[in-house]
Amino acid sequence: MNPIRWGIVGLGNIAHKFACDLALVSDCFLQAVASSDSKRAKKFSTQFAAKDYYSNYSDLFSDPNVDIIYIASLHTLHKSLSIEAMKQGKAVLCEKPMAMNQIEVREMIKTAKENNVFLMEALWTRFNPAFEQVNRWVKENKIGPLRYINSTFSFNALDKGVDSRIFNLKKGGGSLLDIGIYPIFLAYHFLGFPADIKASAILTKEKVDKQIGFIFSYSGAQAILYSSFTHNEDMRATICGENGEIYMNSQWHHTPNVQLINNGKEMKKSFDFLGTGYTYEIEEANNCIRNNKLESSKWSLKNSEDVVTLMDVIRKKVGVIYPTDKEQARN
Ligand SMILES: NC(=O)c1ccc[n+]([C@@H]2O[C@H](COP(=O)([O-])OP(=O)(O)OC[C@H]3O[C@@H](n4cnc5c(N)ncnc54)[C@H](OP(=O)(O)O)[C@@H]3O)[C@@H](O)[C@H]2O)c1
Repeated sequence: MNPIRWGIVGLGNIAHKFACDLALVSDCFLQAVASSDSKRAKKFSTQFAAKDYYSNYSDLFSDPNVDIIYIASLHTLHKSLSIEAMKQGKAVLCEKPMAMNQIEVREMIKTAKENNVFLMEALWTRFNPAFEQVNRWVKENKIGPLRYINSTFSFNALDKGVDSRIFNLKKGGGSLLDIGIYPIFLAYHFLGFPADIKASAILTKEKVDKQIGFIFSYSGAQAILYSSFTHNEDMRATICGENGEIYMNSQWHHTPNVQLINNGKEMKKSFDFLGTGYTYEIEEANNCIRNNKLESSKWSLKNSEDVVTLMDVIRKKVGVIYPTDKEQARN
């Protein structure tokens, strides 16, 4: 098959990192980019050698030379942009969180199925080699029945204003959707959907969560999870079973270093990373497209739907309600 031709929409912080990594992956290239700002689109296309650029997202979605669109805009725009792209027949890799709530994610999945196109949430941690090693250790029963997971994600973003995407309610602000999704992913991946959830948050005046802790309870296991924009932290993850422990070193969501302690014996593994680590989700999307798969078996559409459902439940418990939740409740 010919190389996979990528397009990127929303040329902010993550789009730049992603484009650096895209250039490292074989058998694909950056065909075109789109931004609301034409100067930004032109500068980005020059920096990353894209063949075309647009100052209108729709022009990118209808470009016949593009196979897959990476959606790198605000959370609040993930649903509408992904749907518009899929209706033009494009495959979509959409940044996390897939969308603002379960209703939106279901609408995206329905559109993917109706248009017979590939859709995946860009949950890059799932595809990292060190995480794959942890996955193998757990599957090989190296630590026995799982009993406890501890995972956090925090950084100090207090210098960001109330208009930033981090803190603005209308832009989908709050730590849960932005970074709490990683601890949720870890617990969900290994323990599944919890039987019970407890949550407690500290909200800003605008009622977005600046820090939030939550406990997932399972029969025989617990996951203690946390995210925050109010302080830095080294961010390790711990997975414990009856016969051993696994540690994912700082910062666990993109660590190259993991450690297994099995019946008292310690084993450390380190992995070389290609780029920053977005390369692995790009390879997964490319492979799915090459093999005519409409979703990834490693991070499926059901997985994305479950994770957003968990975030809906947690948000309800702590009182974080976005304008889009209210609109959907009215309809
Ligand atoms: N996987 C990861 O490691 C990772 C890391 C960071 C962020 N993310 C995700 O990526 C997405 C974008 O995050 P980011 O940090 O890249 O955001 P960002 O730099 O603040 O902005 C991304 C883009 O959103 C578009 N946008 C549309 N309406 C906007 C508005 N009203 N205000 C500001 N920007 C607007 C702009 O695109 P135009 O160029 O079209 O103007 C902007 O460049 C988020 O959903 C986030 O969760 C993922």
